[in-house]
Order: sequence, then C-alpha cells, then structure tokens
Amino acid sequence: MSIRRLPSELVDRIAAGEVVERPSSALKELVENALDAEAKNVTIRLSGGGIGLIEVIDDGSGMSAADIRLALERHATSKLPGNSIDRVTSFGFRGEALPSIASVSRLTLESRERGSDGWRVEIDHGRVVGEGPAALPPGTRVRVEQLFEKVPARRKFLRSPRSEYAASLDAVKRLAMARSDVGFTLEHDGRKVLSLQPSTPPARVAALLAAELEKHGVGLDCVRDGLGLAGVVSLPTFNRGMADQQYLFVNSRPVKDRLLVGALRAAYRDLIARDRYPIAALFLTVPLDEVDVNVHPAKTEVRFRDPAAVRGLIVGGIRASLDSESHRSAAREQAAAPVVWTSDVSALPPADAAVREDRALFAGIRAEPAGRAEPALTPVESYPLGVARGQVANTYIVAEAEDGLVIVDQHAAHERLVLERLRSARTGGAVARQELLIPEVVELDEPDCDRIEAATGELSGLGLEVERFGPTSLLVRAVPAALGSPDVSKLLADLAAEIAELGSALSLQEKLDHVEATIACHGSVRAGRVLSVAEMNALLREMEVTPRSGQCNHGRPTWVKLAHSDIEKLFGRK
Ligand SMILES: Nc1ncnc2c1ncn2[C@@H]1O[C@H](COP(=O)(O)OP(=O)(O)OP(=O)(O)O)[C@@H](O)[C@H]1O
Ligand SMILES: [Mg+2]
Repeated sequence: MSIRRLPSELVDRIAAGEVVERPSSALKELVENALDAEAKNVTIRLSGGGIGLIEVIDDGSGMSAADIRLALERHATSKLPGNSIDRVTSFGFRGEALPSIASVSRLTLESRERGSDGWRVEIDHGRVVGEGPAALPPGTRVRVEQLFEKVPARRKFLRSPRSEYAASLDAVKRLAMARSDVGFTLEHDGRKVLSLQPSTPPARVAALLAAELEKHGVGLDCVRDGLGLAGVVSLPTFNRGMADQQYLFVNSRPVKDRLLVGALRAAYRDLIARDRYPIAALFLTVPLDEVDVNVHPAKTEVRFRDPAAVRGLIVGGIRASLDSESHRSAAREQAAAPVVWTSDVSALPPADAAVREDRALFAGIRAEPAGRAEPALTPVESYPLGVARGQVANTYIVAEAEDGLVIVDQHAAHERLVLERLRSARTGGAVARQELLIPEVVELDEPDCDRIEAATGELSGLGLEVERFGPTSLLVRAVPAALGSPDVSKLLADLAAEIAELGSALSLQEKLDHVEATIACHGSVRAGRVLSVAEMNALLREMEVTPRSGQCNHGRPTWVKLAHSDIEKLFGRK
C-alpha cells in the first residue's frame, strides 16, 4: 500500500469529526467566535434542535471580504498574534471551527466591519457555491443548515431534536455564564427561550441556575497560591439526582474537566449520598502559564501544571464555605440570606482550607436538645420495637422494649414505610391518590418537562397525576395519598433528574422501582420534625408489620437496639 496525502476536503471532514460532534458543538464554536469578536449581544436561532438550522448573529468586530474567505480556510486564525499558544485568552485559537462546520453542512457567512460594506460567502459541504455583497448591520451572521445531511455516519448518531436542543441550551447557558457582560437571546422553533441582558456574574448565574439556590446556596470567593475560586455551590441538603447542573469555568472558559468534577465530588464526600450531586457554578482563575487549554478537540478540557493545588483549592474552599454555613443545613426552613459573592477574587482573605469533616457530619443534629421523657402507657412487653419514651435531637425516637433500648432514625424508617406502602399498593393495582384542592403549577426546564410528560402514564400508575401546562410548566392534579403533603415542585424536579439518568437502559419495572423510591423520600417525615408520642408509637407499630422495614432505601439500618445486657456492660455491671 502506498502512502498519499489526503485531499483537503477529506482532511476538513476528518477534523470536523473531532470538532463538530453534534449541533450543540457547532453552536458552541459559533458563539465562541462571536464572543472572541467582542460582541456585546449574541442572538441565536435554532430550529429542530439545531439539526434544521443554527443561526448566530453578533454585533462584534465583523470581517472584511478577504478575511471572510480566509476564515473559511483551515488553520487560518486571527487569534494567535504572537504565534504563542501558551498564553491563549480567546476561546478559539486553532483556526479550525468554521472550515470544519462548513465541510459537513451548508454554511452562509455574512459579515460587515464598521464603516464598510457587508459581504457574504456560501459554502456547500466544503465547496464555495456563491458570494456577493450582503446587507446587514456591523457584525457577523452565520447560518448552518443541512448539518450532517451528507455524512450518514454522523447523522445516524444524532438524537431526537428534543435532546439535541437540550444539549444546545446547555452549551448556551455555559457560555452565557462565562460572559455575563454580554447579552444573549435564544430562540428555538420561533419561540424565545432565553433573553439575558448584560449583567454581573452572580446575577447571571442566579438567572440561569435553580432559583432556589438563592436560599440553598453558599457563595465562595477565595484565593490561594495565586489561584482564585469564586462562585456558588448548593448546601448538601439541596442536591440533584444527576450532575447536570455543575458549571465549571477556567479563566472564563466553560470546561467539563474530570479533575474539577472530581474535586467538587470530593468536597461533598460524606455530606451527600453517593448518587446525589450538588449544584455548582465555579469560576477558577489560574495564571495563563499554569494551564494548557490545547488538550482537547472541543477545548472543553484543560491540563494544569499543578493539579494538586487546584484540587486543594476547590476541596478546601468549598469545605470551608459549607462548614461556615453548616447551621443552615440543619435549619432547613429558616430563610437564609441571599447569596452574594464578588467576582474580584483578591477582595477577600484566603479561605481557611482546613477540612473539618466531623463538624459537618453533625450538621443535621445540631438542633436544640429535644428529649422528652414520656410515661409508658402500654406495657413494653407487648411490642418487639417497644413503646416510645421520647425523641432526641428531633431525629431519633427512643423506645423502651422488653429486652432493651431501641433507637429509630425517624426519617430513614418512615421513608422505607412509604416505599413499601407504595409498592404493595402498586402490585395490588390500587394506588390511593389524593386530589389537590387547587392543582399546582410547577416550573421546570423544557427538557425536564419533556421527560415528565413522556412518563405521565407510569407516574399516573403511581398515583401522581401530571399534565403538560406549557413549554416550561407542568400541572399537578393529584399526588399519591401515601405522601401527605409533599413539596410538589421539588418532587417533580427530582423525578425529572431521575428519569434523565435512568435513560432507556432499564426495564419499566426497574424504572418504577427507582421512581417510587424518589417519591417515597419526598413523602417522609424529615429529621428535625418534632413528633408526638402517638405519632412515634404509630411509626413503631407500622415498622413491626412492614416487610424490610429494618433498612432504609439506601441500605442503612432504620433502627438499632441496645440490649439490657449491653447497657450493663457499658456500666461495668457485668
Ligand atoms: N463572528 C465572528 N466575528 C468576527 N470574526 C470572526 C467571527 N467568526 C470567525 N471569525 C474569524 O474567523 C477566524 C476563523 O474562525 P474559526 O472559528 O474557524 O477559528 P478560530 O476561532 O480562530 O479557532 P478555533 O478553531 O479554535 O475556533 C477567526 O480567527 C476570526 O478571525
Ligand atoms: Mg473559533
């Protein structure tokens, strides 16, 4: 076999394979170009999730006719003035994105510099098919149509317009958070989805992240060894079933870096269940020579010269902030101060990065002493789990049994009971539902609404009656009776995350099991709630007759017993 040079069209297409994986990656490149051109406003129009059309309009510097043609050639860039790739501050630097996109689509590039006329070039799968004068305001407009239409291998891997749209929305959100000083508009299929005025980083993050973060978030702002970390993270008690709301930035570049994700995870270790994820927007500032951005085709990963220092800053910074706020995790209902964090990383003293895990571990039971001695009204020998004698820390029921002392974790135990109740009702075919007096409207992301909408049949079988109420809202008419009065909007948000994560890999039965567990968690009495003696005894009696009530839905015990003989040992009586 002889070696030959590949024709340039094929080379472009190979490069496109790395840069343009799906519509959202093309969109990301186009918006980055607009931002690099110092646009103050970026308008994005998509149709069919970007498969039909991606259009990006900016009011940035624009290009001359000669530059437009150059821009569409490979390895042509205006962004490495000193030929130095070590100190890149722009999003782009490879001169690859436009020719790559143009090789797998029909692309129209129109641009106009201030004070001159506009020009347009049209490219059909890598070939110039037309050009001429164009009328447009100063700036640039790029239209991408027929993406992958002639690349069956890629087209096959496109998902539904809905999920492609979800990916594009995510890409735009990340860039809009990275550049809060720029206005963004996003339209999908003719509907305005985002409309963001230029603002400050905290305000932009607040506008794009879960609104509840105002109450359940902690601001961060610290500097250590020349590295800066600012942003906001959720309290451990405010978490999600998937890692989709973690926004990470290095020197204003959105990244999906494994080191950073791992550090975030580590910061919450033992504060949060293994399968739950915090919400976070973290902005890391690193000296340019400490980080290499040229390690990933889509430029979404980076390499740090000193990874341990970066990890230490993130873990230590987050832990310190969470520790200083740990009382808020305990007092869940207490309205907390709104999140404030400055973007000037030098404004605050270095964070105390010491990791004090023990403090946070006890965050949940720092309430006022709440033990109450109760006279045993029924003879203790009648019941295996005994008779309630009191409640400790508003979390643990203390009961006296014939042969010892029983301590019950009220939340874990109740969660299990609700789950078993839901499960047996489902297998018996009669899930009791409770109609809401006033149907509740819940606002969620469009992709989350889609997920719930697609599952309404199954959810109805579980006693949850939901219907679509608008692009980003759902209407809840009834909830499973076993739940009492749950926080409906949090329940739906968690269910959507659950459904997204389960994907299509599991059988219907397995999915229902998962979804039921999520529902059960919402219907359960929380740690921190004061229970009456009657409520405590009712819980104990139900545990005695419910199968599998000895372990919670996460595999931990729901109660422990200290036998009389154990107590005697403790006091050295034996
Ligand atoms: N919206 C725009 N406004 C002004 N100039 C632009 C715009 N988009 C592209 N350009 C010019 O075209 C050049 C090529 O763009 P392209 O995205 O292909 O490469 P790049 O941004 O330099 O690097 P990368 O491949 O890493 O994105 C840019 O360097 C820039 O000079
Ligand atoms: Mg670019």
